Amino acid sequence: MARVALVTGGTRGIGAAIAKALKAQGCEVAATYGGNDEAAKAFTDETGIKTYKWSVGDYDACKDGIAEVEADLGPVDILVNNAGITRDAPFHKMSPQQWQEVIDTNLTGVFNMTHNLWGGMRKRKFGRVINISSINGQKGQFGQANYSAAKAGDLGFTKALAQEGARAGITVNAICPGYIATDMVMAVPEKVRESIIGQIPVGRLGEAEEIARTVVFLASDDAGFVTGSTMTVNGGQYLT
Ligand code: CAA
Repeated sequence: MARVALVTGGTRGIGAAIAKALKAQGCEVAATYGGNDEAAKAFTDETGIKTYKWSVGDYDACKDGIAEVEADLGPVDILVNNAGITRDAPFHKMSPQQWQEVIDTNLTGVFNMTHNLWGGMRKRKFGRVINISSINGQKGQFGQANYSAAKAGDLGFTKALAQEGARAGITVNAICPGYIATDMVMAVPEKVRESIIGQIPVGRLGEAEEIARTVVFLASDDAGFVTGSTMTVNGGQYLT
């Protein structure tokens, strides 16, 4: 039986590459998105992957959305918590709203999604939870007190939950992408971006597919002994 995978923020950027790579492995894939209907439609037209719209920051919307996905595709075996936003600002200019929006999506969203799937994975004695954190959750980043806090929180969540899932056949891992050539990174002012590329030993931004290939490994049945890990995929920019 094909594994069923759910990728949040799965219609653009890193998430779209992950959804496509999992489909290429033979998974049944659902991709969720938060707002961009046009991108979601283009993604489905290109890939045939069904998309679902809800905010990962809303617990009940996650519950209802997951029920819809499972009615369509069957129980979810693989959850990729990829949905994420930035609201960059130096801390002295950061509003409570900029803080809250990033925490709600990038940290609470991971709780909301995982919590609503956890019981089923425990019952079936199989699960793969893969949290897309960030280099900036590892090292911090000027202008990203909100984002760095949320992404560091995702790493703690991963390590705690890995211990709880282990006996139930559920692995929980995190990937920390460095700077990847997506809309999110392209929104960084060009001068700042150029200086960041100068700090990457391989001398370029990463490709979304490079993160997707790491997800494919962690999602595989063969990766059952890998749990609680943080996979750093950043071109050597920050070595933990
Ligand atoms: N280190 C030290 N000082 C810095 C700095 C840095 N990295 N960046 C800016 N500053 C300084 C500026 O030089 C300026 O100093 P002066 O006032 O003395 O000239 C001061 O901070 C304020 O800068 P700005 O006026 O430019 O402030 P701003 O409000 O317009 O914007 C910012 C600041 C939003 C943080 C902007 O610099 C920025 O977007 N930085 C990029 C942040 C970043 O890397 N985000 C990652 C997005 S991609 C992502 O998140 C994906 C992932 O996981 C990797």
